[in-house]
Amino acid sequence: MPGTIGLLEAIYSQRAIRSFKPDAVSEETVRSLIEAATKAPSGGNRQPWRFLVIRDPDAKRRIGEYYWQAWEAAYGTRAATPPEIQPHVRASAAGLAEKMAEVPLLILACVEHDGSPSAMGRGSSIYPAVQNLLLAARGLGLGSVITTLHKRYEAEIKQLLGIPENVETAALLPIGYPTDDARYGPTRRAPVDEVTYWDRWGQGPPKA
Ligand SMILES: Cc1cc2nc3c(=O)[nH]c(=O)nc-3n(C[C@H](O)[C@H](O)[C@H](O)COP(=O)(O)O)c2cc1C
Repeated sequence: MPGTIGLLEAIYSQRAIRSFKPDAVSEETVRSLIEAATKAPSGGNRQPWRFLVIRDPDAKRRIGEYYWQAWEAAYGTRAATPPEIQPHVRASAAGLAEKMAEVPLLILACVEHDGSPSAMGRGSSIYPAVQNLLLAARGLGLGSVITTLHKRYEAEIKQLLGIPENVETAALLPIGYPTDDARYGPTRRAPVDEVTYWDRWGQGPPKA
């Protein structure tokens, strides 16, 4: 796959991009993104992922309405903003909620399942593919962000798009070329030592 940057540079600079130029994303590029996604691991190599590419303006408009309503209920003017959401993230996410229908390309990452109840099990065979897609998007100069607010209208969106019962939507990925003010990383993350234990929960590294 044609990549213009190295893997680690992509990992270190990939971040949530929520504002896009109106330029279309070509079908060839869409295929490249999805091919990268399909290189991910899945339980038993069952590859339960399905990717619904949404470019139809009417479908995007309807999804945008559901997404906006979900945003309003979760974080909007009448909702209490969860204190853990940083103001810049909130502002950026609100902007996306207002403009979801205008994003050039939406990809709905879905997972086929057999009705088993394990949410963690289901997710673990689709989210590696989603991350691959996000990294490939970064490599190709595109922006994207993993979103899940649409889950509040899962049933309605499944009906709208003809998604069968045994398929769950895992992430709605808005994708496009970033606007000039949208920046790739570096990202702000907790340092390694804050999130790592050695040999025993809560323990630091062995002394040299
Ligand atoms: C499971 C999950 C669900 C998310 N859902 C949403 C969402 O519904 N809407 C949104 O705008 N961003 C969503 N995000 C994006 C996060 O806000 C973003 O990854 C985080 O703030 C880090 O952003 P950064 O990489 O730019 O630092 C989600 C991320 C994850 C991993």
